[in-house]
Amino acid sequence: MKQIFCGFMTLLLAFGISACSVPEKAEVGEQRIFRITHADSAGRMFSEIWTTLKLESLGMREISSEYFDRAMHISDSRFSAISVSRLLTEFALKRGEDAVLLNCFDDYQGILSIADVYRYDLWLATKIKLVSESSKPDWLNPLLILVPDGQQPPFQERFMTANIRELKFVRLNDYYAPLEKIAGTSPKAQEGLEVFKNNCLFCHSLKGRGGNKGIRLLEVYDFSYKFDQMRMLGDFKNFHHKNNLDKQDVEQFVTQEKLGRVIDYLKNFD
Ligand code: HEC
Repeated sequence: MKQIFCGFMTLLLAFGISACSVPEKAEVGEQRIFRITHADSAGRMFSEIWTTLKLESLGMREISSEYFDRAMHISDSRFSAISVSRLLTEFALKRGEDAVLLNCFDDYQGILSIADVYRYDLWLATKIKLVSESSKPDWLNPLLILVPDGQQPPFQERFMTANIRELKFVRLNDYYAPLEKIAGTSPKAQEGLEVFKNNCLFCHSLKGRGGNKGIRLLEVYDFSYKFDQMRMLGDFKNFHHKNNLDKQDVEQFVTQEKLGRVIDYLKNFD
Protein backbone atom coordinates (compact mmCIF):
# COMPACT_ATOMS: atom_id res chain seq x y z
CA MET A 1 0.00 0.00 0.00
CA LYS A 2 2.84 2.35 0.93
CA GLN A 3 4.55 1.58 -2.36
CA ILE A 4 1.41 2.33 -4.37
CA PHE A 5 1.02 5.59 -2.48
CA CYS A 6 4.65 6.59 -3.06
CA GLY A 7 4.27 5.77 -6.74
CA PHE A 8 1.27 8.07 -6.86
CA MET A 9 3.27 10.83 -5.16
CA THR A 10 6.07 10.43 -7.71
CA LEU A 11 3.49 10.77 -10.47
CA LEU A 12 2.21 14.01 -8.93
CA LEU A 13 5.77 15.32 -8.70
CA ALA A 14 6.43 14.35 -12.29
CA PHE A 15 3.53 16.58 -13.29
CA GLY A 16 5.02 19.43 -11.28
CA ILE A 17 2.39 19.39 -8.59
CA SER A 18 3.99 20.05 -5.24
CA ALA A 19 3.46 17.15 -2.90
CA CYS A 20 2.72 17.61 0.74
CA SER A 21 5.43 16.14 2.89
CA VAL A 22 4.63 12.61 3.93
CA PRO A 23 6.02 11.86 7.35
CA GLU A 24 7.90 8.57 7.42
CA LYS A 25 6.60 7.74 10.85
CA ALA A 26 3.52 8.70 12.78
CA GLU A 27 4.33 10.56 15.96
CA VAL A 28 2.09 9.65 18.86
CA GLY A 29 1.18 11.32 22.13
CA GLU A 30 1.25 15.03 22.86
CA GLN A 31 3.71 17.31 24.47
CA ARG A 32 3.09 17.22 28.17
CA ILE A 33 3.83 19.03 31.33
CA PHE A 34 4.95 16.84 34.19
CA ARG A 35 6.28 17.02 37.73
CA ILE A 36 9.52 16.08 39.36
CA THR A 37 9.07 15.66 43.10
CA HIS A 38 11.97 15.65 45.54
CA ALA A 39 12.89 16.82 49.02
CA ASP A 40 14.10 20.42 49.34
CA SER A 41 17.06 21.35 51.55
CA ALA A 42 14.80 21.39 54.62
CA GLY A 43 13.53 17.92 53.82
CA ARG A 44 10.07 19.01 52.66
CA MET A 45 8.67 17.29 49.55
CA PHE A 46 8.50 19.72 46.69
CA SER A 47 7.17 19.38 43.10
CA GLU A 48 8.81 21.17 40.19
CA ILE A 49 6.86 21.64 36.98
CA TRP A 50 8.83 20.57 33.92
CA THR A 51 7.96 20.86 30.24
CA THR A 52 9.06 18.60 27.42
CA LEU A 53 11.11 21.51 26.04
CA LYS A 54 13.01 21.99 29.28
CA LEU A 55 13.72 18.27 29.44
CA GLU A 56 14.91 18.18 25.82
CA SER A 57 17.25 21.13 26.49
CA LEU A 58 19.33 18.76 28.66
CA GLY A 59 20.51 17.06 25.45
CA MET A 60 17.92 15.37 23.29
CA ARG A 61 18.87 12.56 20.90
CA GLU A 62 17.09 10.41 18.35
CA ILE A 63 17.37 6.79 19.39
CA SER A 64 15.84 3.38 18.76
CA SER A 65 15.13 0.53 21.18
CA GLU A 66 15.10 -3.12 20.18
CA TYR A 67 13.98 -3.93 23.72
CA PHE A 68 10.85 -1.79 23.30
CA ASP A 69 10.13 -3.12 19.80
CA ARG A 70 10.45 -6.71 21.00
CA ALA A 71 8.08 -6.22 23.94
CA MET A 72 5.54 -4.44 21.72
CA HIS A 73 5.85 -6.91 18.79
CA ILE A 74 6.64 -4.08 16.36
CA SER A 75 9.76 -2.80 14.61
CA ASP A 76 11.68 0.34 13.67
CA SER A 77 10.20 2.67 16.31
CA ARG A 78 12.14 5.88 16.83
CA PHE A 79 12.27 8.18 19.83
CA SER A 80 13.41 11.62 20.87
CA ALA A 81 14.90 10.97 24.27
CA ILE A 82 17.24 12.18 26.97
CA SER A 83 19.48 10.19 29.27
CA VAL A 84 17.99 9.65 32.75
CA SER A 85 21.45 9.77 34.33
CA ARG A 86 21.87 13.24 32.78
CA LEU A 87 18.55 14.28 34.31
CA LEU A 88 19.66 12.98 37.71
CA THR A 89 22.60 15.43 37.76
CA GLU A 90 20.00 18.22 38.14
CA PHE A 91 19.03 17.01 41.62
CA ALA A 92 20.91 16.82 44.88
CA LEU A 93 19.56 13.71 46.61
CA LYS A 94 20.57 14.03 50.24
CA ARG A 95 18.08 11.84 52.03
CA GLY A 96 19.15 8.42 50.86
CA GLU A 97 16.84 8.43 47.82
CA ASP A 98 17.93 5.53 45.63
CA ALA A 99 14.93 5.09 43.31
CA VAL A 100 12.59 7.00 41.02
CA LEU A 101 8.87 6.36 41.39
CA LEU A 102 7.03 6.84 38.08
CA ASN A 103 3.40 7.88 38.51
CA CYS A 104 1.44 7.62 35.28
CA PHE A 105 -1.74 9.13 33.84
CA ASP A 106 -3.39 5.71 33.57
CA ASP A 107 -2.94 4.65 37.21
CA TYR A 108 0.19 2.69 36.39
CA GLN A 109 2.98 3.11 38.93
CA GLY A 110 6.50 2.26 37.79
CA ILE A 111 9.66 2.34 39.89
CA LEU A 112 13.34 2.15 38.91
CA SER A 113 16.34 1.95 41.17
CA ILE A 114 18.94 4.60 40.43
CA ALA A 115 21.48 1.74 40.27
CA ASP A 116 19.52 0.29 37.30
CA VAL A 117 19.37 3.74 35.65
CA TYR A 118 23.20 3.76 35.56
CA ARG A 119 23.71 0.03 35.01
CA TYR A 120 21.53 -0.04 31.87
CA ASP A 121 21.93 3.61 30.82
CA LEU A 122 18.14 4.11 30.75
CA TRP A 123 16.63 6.91 28.66
CA LEU A 124 13.41 8.89 28.84
CA ALA A 125 11.50 9.50 25.59
CA THR A 126 9.69 12.79 25.01
CA LYS A 127 8.49 11.78 21.54
CA ILE A 128 7.51 8.38 20.18
CA LYS A 129 7.45 7.67 16.43
CA LEU A 130 5.88 4.41 15.35
CA VAL A 131 5.88 3.01 11.83
CA SER A 132 2.13 2.58 12.03
CA GLU A 133 -0.14 4.54 14.32
CA SER A 134 -2.60 1.66 14.37
CA SER A 135 -0.17 -0.27 16.56
CA LYS A 136 -0.47 2.35 19.31
CA PRO A 137 -2.41 1.39 22.44
CA ASP A 138 -4.00 4.26 24.43
CA TRP A 139 -1.40 4.12 27.18
CA LEU A 140 1.60 4.50 24.89
CA ASN A 141 2.41 8.19 25.40
CA PRO A 142 5.51 10.05 26.58
CA LEU A 143 7.19 10.22 28.93
CA LEU A 144 8.39 6.70 28.28
CA ILE A 145 11.27 4.77 29.88
CA LEU A 146 13.57 3.27 27.26
CA VAL A 147 16.30 0.67 27.22
CA PRO A 148 18.68 1.97 24.53
CA ASP A 149 20.18 -0.39 21.96
CA GLY A 150 23.29 -2.17 23.20
CA GLN A 151 21.93 -2.64 26.74
CA GLN A 152 20.53 -5.95 27.94
CA PRO A 153 18.62 -5.75 31.20
CA PRO A 154 16.44 -8.75 32.08
CA PHE A 155 13.30 -8.86 29.91
CA GLN A 156 10.67 -7.48 32.31
CA GLU A 157 7.63 -5.22 32.48
CA ARG A 158 9.75 -3.02 34.78
CA PHE A 159 11.59 -1.36 31.89
CA MET A 160 8.42 -0.49 29.94
CA THR A 161 6.84 2.41 31.88
CA ALA A 162 4.92 4.88 29.66
CA ASN A 163 2.49 7.77 30.11
CA ILE A 164 4.53 9.19 33.01
CA ARG A 165 3.13 12.31 34.70
CA GLU A 166 5.42 12.47 37.73
CA LEU A 167 8.93 11.37 38.66
CA LYS A 168 9.42 11.20 42.41
CA PHE A 169 12.60 10.35 44.28
CA VAL A 170 12.07 7.73 47.00
CA ARG A 171 13.91 5.11 49.03
CA LEU A 172 13.53 1.59 47.68
CA ASN A 173 13.49 -0.03 51.14
CA ASP A 174 10.69 2.23 52.37
CA TYR A 175 8.68 1.58 49.24
CA TYR A 176 8.88 -2.22 49.34
CA ALA A 177 8.93 -2.67 53.14
CA PRO A 178 5.21 -3.59 53.58
CA LEU A 179 5.56 -6.21 50.83
CA GLU A 180 8.84 -7.70 52.08
CA LYS A 181 7.29 -8.34 55.48
CA ILE A 182 4.64 -10.61 53.94
CA ALA A 183 7.26 -12.74 52.13
CA GLY A 184 8.83 -13.69 55.45
CA THR A 185 11.77 -16.08 55.25
CA SER A 186 10.41 -18.51 52.63
CA PRO A 187 12.79 -18.51 49.61
CA LYS A 188 9.89 -19.43 47.27
CA ALA A 189 7.74 -16.55 48.52
CA GLN A 190 10.70 -14.20 48.28
CA GLU A 191 11.29 -15.25 44.68
CA GLY A 192 7.58 -14.76 43.98
CA LEU A 193 7.73 -11.26 45.43
CA GLU A 194 10.64 -10.43 43.09
CA VAL A 195 8.66 -11.67 40.07
CA PHE A 196 5.63 -9.66 41.23
CA LYS A 197 7.71 -6.52 41.82
CA ASN A 198 9.29 -6.75 38.37
CA ASN A 199 6.14 -7.56 36.37
CA CYS A 200 2.80 -7.12 38.16
CA LEU A 201 2.82 -4.55 40.97
CA PHE A 202 2.84 -1.66 38.46
CA CYS A 203 -0.84 -2.41 37.73
CA HIS A 204 -2.01 -4.76 40.51
CA SER A 205 -1.38 -2.90 43.75
CA LEU A 206 -0.70 -4.56 47.10
CA LYS A 207 -0.60 -2.90 50.51
CA GLY A 208 -0.92 0.58 48.98
CA ARG A 209 2.09 0.09 46.71
CA GLY A 210 1.89 -0.05 42.91
CA GLY A 211 -0.78 0.97 40.39
CA ASN A 212 -4.47 0.28 40.05
CA LYS A 213 -4.79 -0.21 36.32
CA GLY A 214 -5.71 -3.83 36.94
CA ILE A 215 -7.92 -5.32 39.64
CA ARG A 216 -6.70 -6.06 43.16
CA LEU A 217 -5.87 -9.72 42.82
CA LEU A 218 -6.45 -10.47 46.52
CA GLU A 219 -10.06 -9.29 46.19
CA VAL A 220 -10.75 -11.73 43.37
CA TYR A 221 -8.78 -14.79 44.43
CA ASP A 222 -8.35 -16.56 47.75
CA PHE A 223 -4.90 -18.01 47.24
CA SER A 224 -5.19 -20.47 50.11
CA TYR A 225 -7.47 -22.55 47.82
CA LYS A 226 -5.99 -24.64 45.01
CA PHE A 227 -9.11 -23.90 42.95
CA ASP A 228 -8.51 -20.14 43.07
CA GLN A 229 -4.82 -20.59 42.30
CA MET A 230 -5.72 -22.47 39.11
CA ARG A 231 -8.44 -19.93 38.27
CA MET A 232 -5.88 -17.10 38.54
CA LEU A 233 -3.47 -18.94 36.21
CA GLY A 234 -6.28 -19.50 33.69
CA ASP A 235 -7.50 -15.90 33.83
CA PHE A 236 -3.91 -14.66 33.46
CA LYS A 237 -3.43 -16.75 30.31
CA ASN A 238 -6.77 -15.57 28.92
CA PHE A 239 -5.94 -11.93 29.39
CA HIS A 240 -2.19 -11.28 29.33
CA HIS A 241 -1.32 -13.16 26.12
CA LYS A 242 0.51 -11.89 23.06
CA ASN A 243 -2.64 -10.84 21.21
CA ASN A 244 -3.97 -8.77 24.10
CA LEU A 245 -5.88 -5.91 22.47
CA ASP A 246 -4.28 -3.29 24.70
CA LYS A 247 -0.77 -4.71 24.15
CA GLN A 248 -0.52 -5.94 27.72
CA ASP A 249 1.35 -9.11 26.85
CA VAL A 250 2.74 -9.79 30.31
CA GLU A 251 2.96 -13.53 29.59
CA GLN A 252 6.14 -12.92 27.56
CA PHE A 253 7.94 -11.82 30.73
CA VAL A 254 7.05 -14.76 33.01
CA THR A 255 7.23 -18.54 32.85
CA GLN A 256 4.62 -20.87 34.36
CA GLU A 257 7.15 -21.62 37.09
CA LYS A 258 7.55 -17.95 37.97
CA LEU A 259 3.77 -17.61 38.20
CA GLY A 260 3.87 -20.52 40.63
CA ARG A 261 6.29 -18.54 42.81
CA VAL A 262 3.94 -15.51 42.61
CA ILE A 263 1.21 -17.74 44.05
CA ASP A 264 3.62 -18.93 46.79
CA TYR A 265 3.99 -15.27 47.70
CA LEU A 266 0.32 -14.24 47.44
CA LYS A 267 -0.70 -17.23 49.62
CA ASN A 268 0.98 -15.47 52.56
CA PHE A 269 -1.65 -12.71 52.64
CA ASP A 270 -4.47 -13.46 55.04
C1 HEC B 1 0.14 -3.00 32.37
C2 HEC B 1 -0.66 -3.30 33.51
C3 HEC B 1 -0.69 -4.72 34.00
C4 HEC B 1 0.37 -5.53 34.35
C5 HEC B 1 1.83 -5.17 34.31
C6 HEC B 1 -0.20 -6.76 34.81
N1 HEC B 1 -1.55 -6.70 34.72
FE1 HEC B 1 -2.82 -8.21 35.12
N2 HEC B 1 -4.37 -7.10 34.40
C7 HEC B 1 -4.30 -5.79 34.00
C8 HEC B 1 -5.59 -5.39 33.51
C9 HEC B 1 -5.93 -4.00 32.98
C10 HEC B 1 -6.44 -6.51 33.61
C11 HEC B 1 -7.88 -6.67 33.15
C12 HEC B 1 -8.82 -5.83 33.77
C13 HEC B 1 -9.10 -6.24 35.12
O1 HEC B 1 -9.65 -7.36 35.30
O2 HEC B 1 -8.78 -5.45 36.00
C14 HEC B 1 -5.63 -7.58 34.18
C15 HEC B 1 -6.10 -8.83 34.44
C16 HEC B 1 -5.40 -9.80 35.13
C17 HEC B 1 -5.94 -11.07 35.55
C18 HEC B 1 -7.33 -11.58 35.24
C19 HEC B 1 -8.34 -11.03 36.18
C20 HEC B 1 -9.73 -11.37 35.75
O3 HEC B 1 -10.63 -10.98 36.48
O4 HEC B 1 -9.91 -12.00 34.70
C21 HEC B 1 -4.97 -11.70 36.26
C22 HEC B 1 -5.07 -13.06 36.94
C23 HEC B 1 -3.80 -10.85 36.23
N3 HEC B 1 -4.10 -9.72 35.55
C24 HEC B 1 -2.60 -11.16 36.83
C25 HEC B 1 -1.41 -10.47 36.60
C26 HEC B 1 -0.11 -10.93 37.00
C27 HEC B 1 0.16 -12.17 37.84
C28 HEC B 1 0.79 -10.03 36.52
C29 HEC B 1 2.28 -10.10 36.59
C30 HEC B 1 2.92 -11.35 36.17
C31 HEC B 1 0.02 -8.98 35.84
N4 HEC B 1 -1.29 -9.31 35.89
C32 HEC B 1 0.56 -7.83 35.25
C33 HEC B 1 -3.18 -5.00 34.02
C34 HEC B 1 -1.90 -5.48 34.24
